[in-house]
Amino acid sequence: MSHREYGKNRKPRRLLVTGGAGFIGANFVHYWSARYASDRLVILDALTYAGNRNNLRELEGRENFRFVQGNICDRHLVDILLKEEAIDTIAHFAAESHVDRSILGPAAFIETNVIGTFTLLEAFRQHWQSQQNPEEYRFLHVSTDEVYGSLGPDEPAFTETSPYAPNSPYSASKAGSDHLARAYFHTYGVPTLITNCSNNYGPYHFPEKLIPLMCINMLLGKPLPVYGDGQNIRDWLYVTDHCRALDAVIHGGKPGETYNIGGNNQVKNIDLVRTLCKIMDEMAPNLPVRPCEQLIVFVKDRPGHDRRYAIDATKIKTELGWMPSVTLEEGLRRTVEWYLKHEDWWKPLLSEEYQAYYRKVYA
Ligand code: NAD
Ligand code: DAU
Repeated sequence: MSHREYGKNRKPRRLLVTGGAGFIGANFVHYWSARYASDRLVILDALTYAGNRNNLRELEGRENFRFVQGNICDRHLVDILLKEEAIDTIAHFAAESHVDRSILGPAAFIETNVIGTFTLLEAFRQHWQSQQNPEEYRFLHVSTDEVYGSLGPDEPAFTETSPYAPNSPYSASKAGSDHLARAYFHTYGVPTLITNCSNNYGPYHFPEKLIPLMCINMLLGKPLPVYGDGQNIRDWLYVTDHCRALDAVIHGGKPGETYNIGGNNQVKNIDLVRTLCKIMDEMAPNLPVRPCEQLIVFVKDRPGHDRRYAIDATKIKTELGWMPSVTLEEGLRRTVEWYLKHEDWWKPLLSEEYQAYYRKVYA
């Protein structure tokens, strides 16, 4: 089932996309510009280690596209962009997003995820309050299922009313930002929408995360490090399906509401890695080591490692007609193919800085 058609009879929107040079943000910008060509897309991204302007290269120079390198904590810059570009919609992706990095250095997570989100909300509140007809204005806060904590093997999946129980500095900082987005609706009426999504995968995914890390290590013939006993479960969603869900929420979501988004694909890490190995063996013409499964090694566990995430996406399905459209097998094949074809994208990311990070986590 495809989600509803929002393209007909709609007034073009003017979006500020924060974090649009990152993994999901870039996929969202490509998705949106293909679907809503008349919309204005202004990207605000600090280009941290995770941001990559090349992710948006094909859109540079288009009339409706503008890239601004800057920080979401810079209130003056945010105020200027909201006004100058007459922004009516913020799609807020910018964040420090990697759990392992939040364990090594949590300060940046508080700064960007909490203070940065607060800065955007405060700027948008004033901007929205100064408009004559702000009915269509929206602030989409893109968040994560990790705010709900960890599930036992038989516990039901997270719903929108599951209690918050974040376990890492990353998820705690995202929880803080969710609470701020919620409070801005309840206190000031700012039309915020919150989405809590499960693990994404697909093109432009930075190599530090499980799926791209495994793909790249297979291509290089390097060990495939599985944390702990490999029995942790994640609920995987192909990134374009996440973008479709965000589209549905921006157009059809009710301000002040939260929507859970998930792939209904609960898989143990070790099973996911084995599946990826098989796909890579089949699809890659030249591999330094084959079969890839030989490369799997179990390494020291992540501190405080959440055991299981699972999302109950009933609300977005019934209220907004969204369902995932890409199966896990198909999504993994598309992803492997993308990494096979885009060595020029990922090779430069394996910089000295990245190697230093890698040594710290995997030493
Ligand atoms: P990412 O790390 O790939 O990208 C983050 C982007 O934000 C980068 O382009 C970076 O340069 C930018 N950024 C960081 N700090 C900034 C700042 N202070 N000012 C401006 N830009 C800044 O992250 P992602 O995986 O694309 O995640 C995007 C959002 O989706 C995050 O909010 C994350 O919490 C959420 N999310 C991610 C997943 C997932 O599986 N990756 C799942 C659910 C929710
Ligand atoms: O659930 C949504 C979240 O998914 C997002 O909010 C985060 O931004 C995103 O990074 C992701 O968090 P995870 O910690 O689940 O993703 P990661 O890819 O880091 O790890 C996925 C699982 O694989 C997790 O159980 C840890 C494990 N893992 C990860 C790496 C990098 C390994 O076993 N080995 C590894 O080398």
